[in-house]
Amino acid sequence: MHCRRLLLLFLSGFLLARGAVLVDFQVAQPPPVPRDATQCTIQILKRDFAFSFGSAEVVQFTPPTDCGPVGSWAGITLNFTVTSNGTQFDRLGIFTFQNVEIWRTSTPEPTRGDGIIWTYIKDVTRYMPLFAKPGTFILQLDNLIQTGLDGIYSTTLHATFFASSPTHPSAKKADVIIPLSTFANNTGNDASVPPGFSLNITLPQNAVSAFAELYASGNGNEEFWYFNVANSFLPSLPPGIALGQGPFREVRLLVDDRLAGVAFPYATIFTGGILPTAWRPITSYGALDLPTYFLDLTPFVPLLADGSSHKITLDVASVETDHTILQNWFVSGLLQVTTDPSPKRTTGKITSYTAQPFATSATSGTIAENGDAQITVAASRKLHIEADILSGSGRLTHVVWTQDLQYSNLQSYLNNASLQNMVQSATGQVISLHNGITSLVDKFSYPLSINITLLTPSGNSFEASFDHSYNRDLLPSPIIPRSSIQERQLAAGFFNVASTGNSGNGTNSNVFSYTDLAGNTYKRKVDAALNVITSDEQSGSLAPLEVEQSNPSAAGQKQKQEELGHARLPGGRIVGV
Ligand SMILES: *[C@@H]1O[C@H](CO)[C@@H](O)[C@H](O)[C@H]1NC(C)=O
Ligand SMILES: *[C@@H]1O[C@H](CO)[C@@H](O)[C@H](O)[C@H]1NC(C)=O
Ligand SMILES: *[C@@H]1O[C@H](CO)[C@@H](O)[C@H](O)[C@H]1NC(C)=O
Ligand SMILES: *[C@@H]1O[C@H](CO)[C@@H](O)[C@H](O)[C@H]1NC(C)=O
Ligand SMILES: *[C@@H]1O[C@H](CO)[C@@H](O)[C@H](O)[C@H]1NC(C)=O
Ligand SMILES: *[C@@H]1O[C@H](CO)[C@@H](O)[C@H](O)[C@H]1NC(C)=O
Ligand SMILES: *[C@@H]1O[C@H](CO)[C@@H](O)[C@H](O)[C@H]1NC(C)=O
Repeated sequence: MHCRRLLLLFLSGFLLARGAVLVDFQVAQPPPVPRDATQCTIQILKRDFAFSFGSAEVVQFTPPTDCGPVGSWAGITLNFTVTSNGTQFDRLGIFTFQNVEIWRTSTPEPTRGDGIIWTYIKDVTRYMPLFAKPGTFILQLDNLIQTGLDGIYSTTLHATFFASSPTHPSAKKADVIIPLSTFANNTGNDASVPPGFSLNITLPQNAVSAFAELYASGNGNEEFWYFNVANSFLPSLPPGIALGQGPFREVRLLVDDRLAGVAFPYATIFTGGILPTAWRPITSYGALDLPTYFLDLTPFVPLLADGSSHKITLDVASVETDHTILQNWFVSGLLQVTTDPSPKRTTGKITSYTAQPFATSATSGTIAENGDAQITVAASRKLHIEADILSGSGRLTHVVWTQDLQYSNLQSYLNNASLQNMVQSATGQVISLHNGITSLVDKFSYPLSINITLLTPSGNSFEASFDHSYNRDLLPSPIIPRSSIQERQLAAGFFNVASTGNSGNGTNSNVFSYTDLAGNTYKRKVDAALNVITSDEQSGSLAPLEVEQSNPSAAGQKQKQEELGHARLPGGRIVGV
């Protein structure tokens, strides 16, 4: 194993200067940007989100000129640092720049007294064409201040530009980025579906490749989509336990109403999800940086570059009979487009097309005499599209774009539904070849197991445990480096709401590893119990030189009643308000 640094910290409360503020974080690799390059950091925005519903932060951005030629940087990162003190729900944060969503995040729920702080460093190098010109930057973070909710999110966002040099060449970039967005100029540019979101786009006539990136997350009655129950079994469960439309979701992209690709989403659990005490100070994986999904739209380029506008649709489908979902998912996306040196129009055509509009599925289950229910939903889909693309300069590219995806979900409702167990698997092989050269790969596996034990019928007292992994070998497009992530998070705990005072606890352990084709490596093993980091090891070329820790004796041990906030459970219930 290549291991430049190994850090091993067992905490003993020696860093008193830091105070007792709780330092929240999501496990993730530090961005693979050159640390020894000349760097320019600019502040993009600073804003206290108090009652901010419908009032996004909208600022103008001008690219820095003191870090080498504009648009030729070796990398770009964003630093989002936030503090909060009080009681508040977790909120979604949508970063939109030049009408393109570039980061979807959510907020850890704060504690009261000393409050919380978190920093997330996000790699936005792939959006370099957007950062090369002045434009509007929007952060939508809809927060509410009302009785019982007083937590304000005080945010600061900086961007750091890493100058290119002979040792650190300029990052590869697309020629054009086309937004798949609402183009709103005062709020986040994601659309709420259903119904499907459509827009008309026109590609440059000399476009030769187009790779889509999709943002998608379930909200409201779709937050715990993986715990939704197949309609045919819903009437067999006690009322109020679960919502319908089944647990399967796929995000679809259609070109002129024809399916072009799909994504089986990763289940991001927000910090108020099911057991808030399990996500403090380590959030669920993905909560601060929601995963996105990549499709090759190159087979459709001859059509999209024909000079007229074409309809792109983003929607989210279930495998229930009508394929609908409950309220609502937020979706958006973008196309990274490469153009030919010749201005002449690209021609070509799809030579082979095999794709069904919806996934194939099977739902089965048993209801025992005592009411115990076991319900299985399985789904799969195969997509195979081939096309010939002839560029204006005469280069012929044969594209083979394939997706082979599998899904299963088993839910058990036992002992009068006081035990609610869920085991889900989503796996896939997504590959695109351009003249035999691998241009997009997404080999993923997102196993998830959640057990909830209600200790009282109202759900005001419960235990929950989570076993959640994110394993992904990903080449998003030829301009973005290929990387591989293996993450497994085990979390568990207890939550009790009582008139005599709330109580609760949680543990969270993570084993994470990252490698990329440029040779960067990062490993982290980190455990927390009762708000305190109990062990933390980081290694690899991207590991930080020193690790800062909050003082565990001050930050943890006892969770005060009012720190516990509320828990959202599947079935649309909120306890502890
Ligand atoms: C991120 O920004 C905060 C200020 O908002 C700063 O204190 C912190 O050092 C920055 N972190 C990094 C890694 O740049
Ligand atoms: C957090 O807010 C409380 C009031 O709710 C206040 O007493 C306390 O000083 C604040 N803490 C910090 C660190 O500002
Ligand atoms: C952008 O803002 C202006 C007002 O400043 C408004 O007239 C226009 O309709 C807005 N555009 C969109 C797409 O919302
Ligand atoms: C797309 O353009 C067609 C006409 O070219 C128009 O009828 C349709 O309303 C447009 N769709 C959207 C979503 O703007
Ligand atoms: C079953 O659970 C419901 C609440 O979900 C409760 O009202 C009912 O009394 C329970 N029945 C038994 C037999 O425990
Ligand atoms: C849930 O319970 C099942 C059956 O007891 C067990 O096999 C599984 O490991 C549990 N999952 C979690 C996350 O605790
Ligand atoms: C959490 O609280 C429950 C109930 O009081 C207790 O059984 C469990 O041992 C506690 N867990 C930890 C990690 O302290």
